[in-house]
Amino acid sequence: MTGKVRTIYICQTCGYQSSKWLGRCPECEQWSSFVEEQTSAKGQRRHERREQSAAKPVVISAVSADEGERLPTGIGELDRVLGGGVLPGVVVLVGGDPGIGKSTLLLQVAGLMSRAGQSVLYISGEESAKQTRLRADRVSALSDRLLILPDTALEGILEHLDQLRPQVVVVDSVQTLSSAQLQSGAGSISQVREVTARLVEMAKTFGIATFLVGHVTKDGALAGPKVLEHMVDCVLYFEGETSLAFRILRAVKNRFGSVNEIGVFEMAKDGLREVRNPSQLFLSERPEETSGSVVVCALEGTRPLLIEVQALASPSPLAMPRRVATGFDVNRVALLIAILEKRVGLHLHGEDVYLNVAGGIRVTEPAVDLGVATAIASSFRDRPIDPRTVIMGEVGLGGEVRAIPHLEARLREAEKLGFLQAVIPEPNRPLEALAGKLEVIPVTSVAVAFERLF
Ligand code: TYD
Ligand code: MG
Repeated sequence: MTGKVRTIYICQTCGYQSSKWLGRCPECEQWSSFVEEQTSAKGQRRHERREQSAAKPVVISAVSADEGERLPTGIGELDRVLGGGVLPGVVVLVGGDPGIGKSTLLLQVAGLMSRAGQSVLYISGEESAKQTRLRADRVSALSDRLLILPDTALEGILEHLDQLRPQVVVVDSVQTLSSAQLQSGAGSISQVREVTARLVEMAKTFGIATFLVGHVTKDGALAGPKVLEHMVDCVLYFEGETSLAFRILRAVKNRFGSVNEIGVFEMAKDGLREVRNPSQLFLSERPEETSGSVVVCALEGTRPLLIEVQALASPSPLAMPRRVATGFDVNRVALLIAILEKRVGLHLHGEDVYLNVAGGIRVTEPAVDLGVATAIASSFRDRPIDPRTVIMGEVGLGGEVRAIPHLEARLREAEKLGFLQAVIPEPNRPLEALAGKLEVIPVTSVAVAFERLF
């Protein structure tokens, strides 16, 4: 039974396997995603052996609850997303579009952690040692404890890991590595799965904190996302417009912390810089005294962000006026327009309405409803809103303003940035507790809010 090769077809998007080629994947409905791959019986047997391991049942309270010491990465925004640094043996997958800054971020982490005394190995399957050195110069990541290994052969890499036993490993990227045990090429689902499984095994055995870079395919999913996501402890996603300088790091899965946390970075000449006060960045280009511009507060994880929402309503030549939204759900815009028509009496049916969330960020929280509705009304009536006012509240179909979570945290953020007034939902009682330096204007409905604002 040596090296018996089996040919199967695997969907490169979701990992679905079939014994024959299919035009469309029955699992994820992707077209032309099947690729012929060869799996050898050797690989299969290895998995079987692992399943027969000698684990025994133990009483849950007898299991050690000591999770070990968290190592700070040296980048506060990354630590926040990870839940306070990395634990030994943790495996973190960092996904994102090409050119977004994954290599830059992880090389900076490698530099900072090695300078803090950790031994770090940076495995570069994409760039030569020289290219990595040049980048390290640029982001000042040089250190005696940082080793570079430009290699793509998994077995050789595992051997080096076994000898060196570094505390931190960066693999850039999993898609470039391949195992000689499999016939299929680097980047195929079986290779990516095998490479990740062996690296995870290594990380757990020797307590190596491991960062894996994973490229995103054009439909926005990591190559082999389902396969990889359940194998690792944390999945972070690096996003942002490549045309804009700032980047958002988002936790999608975290076994050792909360998800929904975000870290904000800015790409500069010398690498990624943390943005400690993202609200300031998102509001920096705000026009004053212009109608249609409103500041709202959206919560990202536990972090309140003040963001500018811009609306433009202009008479439409079309029988079906346009409703266009960037960074916000366009159906929600249509709904808010209907509420404005019916409950406030704004005649928007002949108007094209464009909505833009400034800075390229995307907001999904209902707490920004009232602000969006106000922006549309402000543009329609051509009446600017006081620039020192922030607007918060969910809007119901009856035009009523509903309570929102974590109002206090949002108000404190607005206060910090020098806002003077906040329109808030009246149902968020008790309101006395919220009083700070801000003047709060509690409102029960969109109509009442507009009476106070216009
Ligand atoms: P990179 O980290 O190579 O992206 P990824 O690994 O996700 O593909 O980032 C590359 C981009 O970042 C590239 O367009 C150049 C830019 N960049 C800077 O602006 N400043 C820097 O200091 C560095 C290293 C890169
Ligand atoms: Mg890269």
